[in-house]
Amino acid sequence: MNNFIFQNPTKLIFGQDTISQLSKEIPQDKKILIVFGGGSAKSNGVYAQVAEALKDHNTVEFWGVEPNPKVETLREAVALGKLESVDFILSVGGGSVLDGTKLIAASIPYAGDAWELVLDSSKIGEIVPFASIMTLPATGSEMNSGAVISNLETNEKYAFYSTFPQFSILDPKTTYSLPAFQVACGVADTFVHTIEQYLIETDCSPLMDRWAEGIMLTLKEVAPKIKADQTDYAQMSNYMLCATMALNGFTAMGVAQDWATHMIGHEVTAFTGVTHGQTLAIILPATMTVLREQKGDKIIQYGERVWNIVEGSRDEKIDATIEATKRFFGSLGLATSFSELKIERSTIDELVERLASRGVAFGDKANVSADIVKEILYMC
Ligand code: NZQ
Ligand code: ZN
Repeated sequence: MNNFIFQNPTKLIFGQDTISQLSKEIPQDKKILIVFGGGSAKSNGVYAQVAEALKDHNTVEFWGVEPNPKVETLREAVALGKLESVDFILSVGGGSVLDGTKLIAASIPYAGDAWELVLDSSKIGEIVPFASIMTLPATGSEMNSGAVISNLETNEKYAFYSTFPQFSILDPKTTYSLPAFQVACGVADTFVHTIEQYLIETDCSPLMDRWAEGIMLTLKEVAPKIKADQTDYAQMSNYMLCATMALNGFTAMGVAQDWATHMIGHEVTAFTGVTHGQTLAIILPATMTVLREQKGDKIIQYGERVWNIVEGSRDEKIDATIEATKRFFGSLGLATSFSELKIERSTIDELVERLASRGVAFGDKANVSADIVKEILYMC
């Protein structure tokens, strides 16, 4: 097991009708900037619950943080926050609104431009305290310090790290209104977060392996049930907790992490706009195929414990496990190849060229170069 430091300060408030607890979680004397997405919070009743809970607080609202939040939009929120001298920020929505909030919180006290903080987290100083009401289980952003921000002008999408939400409220009932496609993408994202901290070595931490396998087995069990009925409270709760646990550091203690599939996925989203979870569902099986020798032993462990693949030669087991993974993503209703999404080879070539110019080396072994990315993306 590798050395590690674990600290996660986010208070998690989970369960039905918990949004009303907002009023006592945020001190009365705070001036709160409430950040929203494009309108789902209004149509599903979450906005009304927030407004009721904060009716005696001093609030100002910012609407319009889009999926794959753009720095161009976030700059407007930063300006509003500065103008209003806010000293608390509340994100209401999915991972994009919360990721955007993380950048807003770090940029309000910062004298320079927000994008500088995305490119270099070491420039982050003071951060306005923030919290979230998470309405889309997927990113784990509700209990981690990461955020992924896009830049329209330069066509870039990068992760940066700041700090954790003070608290996050997760009411599974708020997810009933999610489009089925977003649920499918969220399940895929959660699954891939888990596997990117798992599919590395076989003998590093049996405990972390079983945490990760527990999440993947739960997703496998829950996915068809929530696809059939998105208002099944028990199953949506299971899914929501999986999403949080997959990326809050709990499965990462002492183990190596990969993230090549995510890094490639972010590039594909920057170039094509395809939703994050959908990119991962296509890329992961291709990454596993291209790195099958390096990852073979762990693929076999994963195949046996998650998909019950116990028969056949080493190669047959690896093939069957990759196929089972692909079938799982397909069963969610997601595309399993770029051709289904009409992504052209010329787009991939352009993307790979930019990665080559950056000299990227993704993955736990830092061996996923632009050439390997090309091989993976051609396979997609
Ligand atoms: O904008 P609104 O109107 O709110 O609608 C959103 C959006 O259109 C809608 N939605 C959210 N909750 C809803 C709802 N619709 C109905 N009912 C609800 N309860 O869903 C759409 C997608 O929302 P978005 O926030 O973009 O999705 P998600 O939570 O999957 O976030 C994706 C972003 O997170 C980044 C991704 O790269 C992407 O930019 N990630 C962040 C991570 C992190 N912070 O740790 C890690 C992840 O790997 C990921 O990269
Ligand atoms: Zn992700």
